[in-house]
Amino acid sequence: MRVIVENDYQSMSRKAALLLASQVNLKPNSVLGLATGSTPEGMYQELVKMYHRGEIDFSEVVTFNLDEYYKLPPENEESYHYYMHENFFKHVNLHPENTNIPRGMVEKVETECWYYEEKIRRAGGIDLQVLGIGSNGHIGFNEPGDRLNVTTKLVELTEETIESNSRFFDSLDKVPRKAISVGMATILKARRIILLASGKNKAEAIKKTINGYVDTRIPSSLLQTHPETTLIIDEEAASLL
Ligand code: F6R
Repeated sequence: MRVIVENDYQSMSRKAALLLASQVNLKPNSVLGLATGSTPEGMYQELVKMYHRGEIDFSEVVTFNLDEYYKLPPENEESYHYYMHENFFKHVNLHPENTNIPRGMVEKVETECWYYEEKIRRAGGIDLQVLGIGSNGHIGFNEPGDRLNVTTKLVELTEETIESNSRFFDSLDKVPRKAISVGMATILKARRIILLASGKNKAEAIKKTINGYVDTRIPSSLLQTHPETTLIIDEEAASLL
């Protein structure tokens, strides 16, 4: 596991964008695994700037997002469909048919999960997976527990995650309690992984990710078993290392 500590959120975002751009420039038809949340917003802004400067071309890139809330319509402003469209997809030359996000509104959720895995497999697997991290160590929406999902599944969010994500919703009871999330093995099968973290509230989780035991109660600790993982974190997130 490689750890890059940047001064602040801006330089963390720039570093992540540069790594992602070098992946796409080396392999124009890269398959990217993407995350949502506050942390990667700066990275997406940097990528959009690079695209406008002609430094990156997404025309052959395929993307798979990690997760989506269950039963939240894509037009809802808190859905991850909406987030991706507003923060990234609408600003660059990705082909809409090359972007994939689990569909939270489906009736047959097991079929959707199976189909999502199959689409990743048919695309040739993920070349570069971008991750954020929950303050409880979740990655994607793989929440701490005695057992973790291997593949894409419908998952229950923990109270801590619901509480944390309530900052985006009008009230706590509006936060969905379930989500569809790509599973741990699917994440760990990515050829390269970059995990971004910023701020003091991530410091404890980062410490356990790097220095703790590999433990399903800290899902991010499983990244220790992955040969090509880079953590790009700011000084506050690194403050307990
Ligand atoms: C979102 C995701 C989550 C977030 C995590 C951190 O697609 O996979 O694991 O990365 O909840 O969220 P922020 O960045 O908002 O602190």
